[in-house]
Amino acid sequence: MSAHDRRQGGRPGARTPKDPSYLRGLFDRAARYYDSVNQTTSLGQVGTWRQEVVWAASLHPNDRVLDAFSGPGGLAAEAVPQLGPGAQLVLADLSPEMLHQARRRLGPILAAEGQYRPCVDYVVGDLLRDDLGLGEFDAVFLGWALRYVDDVDSALARMRTFVKTGGTIVVLEFTRPPKVSWATPAHLYFRYVLPQIGSALAGDRELHEYLTESAAKFLTAPQLLRSIQNAGFDLDKYSTHLDGLVTIAAATAK
Ligand SMILES: C[S@@+](CC[C@H](N)C(=O)[O-])C[C@H]1O[C@@H](n2cnc3c(N)ncnc32)[C@H](O)[C@@H]1O
Repeated sequence: MSAHDRRQGGRPGARTPKDPSYLRGLFDRAARYYDSVNQTTSLGQVGTWRQEVVWAASLHPNDRVLDAFSGPGGLAAEAVPQLGPGAQLVLADLSPEMLHQARRRLGPILAAEGQYRPCVDYVVGDLLRDDLGLGEFDAVFLGWALRYVDDVDSALARMRTFVKTGGTIVVLEFTRPPKVSWATPAHLYFRYVLPQIGSALAGDRELHEYLTESAAKFLTAPQLLRSIQNAGFDLDKYSTHLDGLVTIAAATAK
């Protein structure tokens, strides 16, 4: 029985809880090691995917940009050099500890930009339920967020409210190939090796148990793209990585 099952009394369907207080605790505890573990378990690929997300957004120097479900700000950090002093970059996340790590990460990057740095704000809150008064953005990044929501379609519809018409959303997400076979090296690594390495490096099994347990419910890339379109976006481009385990999709709000 997993840590989730034990806490939830073994209730079926309770293995990947989505309630904000649970997620906040989970990510507050994960914040310190999240980035270094990601770097290792992605076999160094995470930086390349982040660059692709930011390039796909085609940012302009004065844009308002939201890093939604920002975690420790890996996507925001990649965006900073693309933005000028007239830009605003908002990082929003449920977890205060994740945003604390984001501040630490962005501090030196912003210092190096000097007078060319964009204005950066850190907002703690629930992007699905709270009215955070964020307004609309030219570009929204949504990195590895959709496994933590109850309903992907309504979460994407909510994200649509943060994007100006004509603005861009870029989604980076784990996806499940449409074929049933999970026997490719990337899938075997993901299912059997990554959780072990991640748990060992983090000294905590919970986040990686969550990852493994939510894997069966991943959307396929076509399902993800359809959900993005159903939420009021025109798809611009997409790519898949690691035999379809990771999808990056950019879309314009209509
Ligand atoms: C897997 S991390 C992704 C971090 C980052 N986007 C990245 O690309 O590495 C998911 C983040 O979503 C945050 N989160 C989960 N549910 C949320 C919600 N309803 N509103 C805001 N943040 C949320 C968690 O606190 C966590 O930091």
